[in-house]
Amino acid sequence: MIGIHMNQTDSILKLRNVTKTFARQTVDEVIALSDITFDVHNQDFVTIIGSNGAGKSTMLNIVAGLYPPDRGGKIYIGENDVTRLIGYKRAGFVGRVWQQPDLGTAGHLTIEENLSLAILRGKRRGLRRAVSKARKELFRKELSLLNLGLEDRLKTPVNTLSGGQRQALSLVMATISKPSILLLDEHVGALDPNTAKTVLELTDKIVEREQMTTVMVTHNMEVALHLGTRLIMMNKGKIVVDIDAERKRRLKVSDLVSAFEQAAGESFDDDSILLSHAEHMK
Ligand SMILES: Nc1ncnc2c1ncn2[C@@H]1O[C@H](COP(=O)(O)OP(=O)(O)O)[C@@H](O)[C@H]1O
Ligand SMILES: [Mg+2]
Repeated sequence: MIGIHMNQTDSILKLRNVTKTFARQTVDEVIALSDITFDVHNQDFVTIIGSNGAGKSTMLNIVAGLYPPDRGGKIYIGENDVTRLIGYKRAGFVGRVWQQPDLGTAGHLTIEENLSLAILRGKRRGLRRAVSKARKELFRKELSLLNLGLEDRLKTPVNTLSGGQRQALSLVMATISKPSILLLDEHVGALDPNTAKTVLELTDKIVEREQMTTVMVTHNMEVALHLGTRLIMMNKGKIVVDIDAERKRRLKVSDLVSAFEQAAGESFDDDSILLSHAEHMK
């Protein structure tokens, strides 16, 4: 994990036969993930796209340890079998940013308190002791790279920041303790288009600088094509398309829609995705 040199081809994340059933044996039973076997390699930046209910969030939640997979499934981060390791014990391995800015940050706490909590994730030690002078310098340095002026606002309560500023802070919080993998679940989905663009640019910059292995769910096909080194499409709990960096560079959105339709055997009918694409093209 941290500090150990890895080759580009080493698997950071391995899913083996991961199935997730909700409300098993009730009328509401849903198979959200269906026998997924999948490797994310060191420094992959995977973008994930798929219609509503395809299982994207469930896959990220299982990696983050919100709940375990059905029996028989296995999850490895680096060499560690984390299948039965509950969420907070996995925090040292996994950094995460959600769609809603208020989920990633504690609104009533200041920027520096939020960052202190982030740096302590997966470690044992008190909050107060953590806001040392050295820590403050580290926070200032990390925040100044965002170019949002947050480095001069360490004592500002987070609930006074804009959604974009909070997501940018969430990104710093998710990466400051150098987790093995960064999970982004439509983390710009609640932002206006301009702010979303800024936060995506920041995402790309941070992933590049920290050489983070990253899995990012997006609703926007253009974004899925232009960011990252690998693209995955999900449908009905399965990965139906997996495209590498080289192929990705040559594709257009229309190719992506055809690839999906060919693999899934049905038309791509998630209007919200097609519309968000149309919106983007104006
Ligand atoms: N906690 C849950 N309880 C019951 N059903 C769930 C739960 N989470 C997700 N689901 C169901 O699992 C399927 C996949 O959901 P999700 O992973 O959120 O899809 P996506 O993120 O691709 O839109 C959906 O049918 C959804 O309703
Ligand atoms: Mg989702």
